Amino acid sequence: MSELALLGGKPVRSEPFPPWPVHDEREAKALAAVLASSNWGGYPSPNTHAKAFAERFAAAHTARFCIPAANGTVTLEIALRAAGVRAGDEVIVTPYTWVATAAAPVYLNAVPVFADVDPETYCLDPKAVEAAITPRTKAIIPVHLGCRMADMDALMAIAAKHNLTVIEDCAHMHGARWKDRGVGSIGHLGSFSFQSSKLMTAGEGGAILTSDPELAERCHSLVNCGRKLEGYDSFDGWMLGWNDRIGEFQAAVLGCQMDRLEEQTILREKNADYLYAALADVPGIRPLRRDPRITRTGNYQVILRYDPAGFGGLKRDRFAEALTAEGIEVDPYFYIPLYQSPLLTVTAADYPMIRERYGDAITTDSASCPVAEKAAYQEALWIHHPLFMGDHRDMDQVVDAIRKIQKNVGELL
Ligand SMILES: Cc1ncc(COP(=O)(O)O)c(C=O)c1O
Repeated sequence: MSELALLGGKPVRSEPFPPWPVHDEREAKALAAVLASSNWGGYPSPNTHAKAFAERFAAAHTARFCIPAANGTVTLEIALRAAGVRAGDEVIVTPYTWVATAAAPVYLNAVPVFADVDPETYCLDPKAVEAAITPRTKAIIPVHLGCRMADMDALMAIAAKHNLTVIEDCAHMHGARWKDRGVGSIGHLGSFSFQSSKLMTAGEGGAILTSDPELAERCHSLVNCGRKLEGYDSFDGWMLGWNDRIGEFQAAVLGCQMDRLEEQTILREKNADYLYAALADVPGIRPLRRDPRITRTGNYQVILRYDPAGFGGLKRDRFAEALTAEGIEVDPYFYIPLYQSPLLTVTAADYPMIRERYGDAITTDSASCPVAEKAAYQEALWIHHPLFMGDHRDMDQVVDAIRKIQKNVGELL
């Protein structure tokens, strides 16, 4: 019988990944306290726990202000509105991300414009951004992913030159640092998600960071039905807002998750670094390049790059099946380029401002980002962060499983 688990052999790993989310009596106590208080909602905004959490989250990421919100989708939309992005304006986004990054401008009837990613980091490529700028461009949304960060120095220089707003999508990066500055505090605004799978979670939830008092005030108003509070919203004029507030149960849980963030971030980073080092002499598997300006990384998903040449020509998807069968769950299709995703179904009938660039609808051939396409369809292997919450034995199993497939690859070809 074959040694390979995919062909009936014994898998390298039979135990599940460590559980996620992590919680203990701290969350239970905090939730019980909110329950007993009868003060459950998001109003007044921010409410007691939300305010306490926001202060800690901002400080941990070296930002002056944090505006908690309902999730990490509305935070992107609010950030764009706060920055003054309007119908018909263009927003440059990476295609290699979750749908919310490109949907946020669409919600405003603005126009997402896809710029390709860097082949070594899979994050937005500043050269592609510069090439995508038009007189209508108003904002850029880089996404930090795969434990890597977009080149924030280059993007901020481009933004300054063209008078653009940069909104960092930090949904994968809680706790990370760029030249010792907190992620989300380098751009004009930063957006975070606390959805269940994220590095800290309350099931759902989101937050915006900024150090600009006027942007912060606008965000507070937009989250809270447009309310303008005495001595608080000093910008001129009223605005239409939404109820995108976070509730007190979630805010209380986030306070507890904050207590663990630093320790968990360091643990994940250590394990991922150990894995990268152990894979150094395994042909056909490479990590993404780490920019030395990343002084601490968030490890939401580790991305390994696959080269079939190291596996006798075996296709990435078959390799991913074999690795998953060995008990190391990997996802090759965590993202596909958004212009090819059915989730980004956008028609000019609903969002008329896309017509000039895209015609009747955004379709699979509306853009061409060959680096993102290569990552999505040929190279990337995504591993979710709970695997990095254990110890070196877990990492050794990843390497053992990869080597086992390599040794027996002939059976899969
Ligand atoms: C890159 C990215 N941006 C935005 C979001 C949206 O966050 P949420 O799910 O909290 O709305 C997510 C979450 O899935 C994400 O991964």
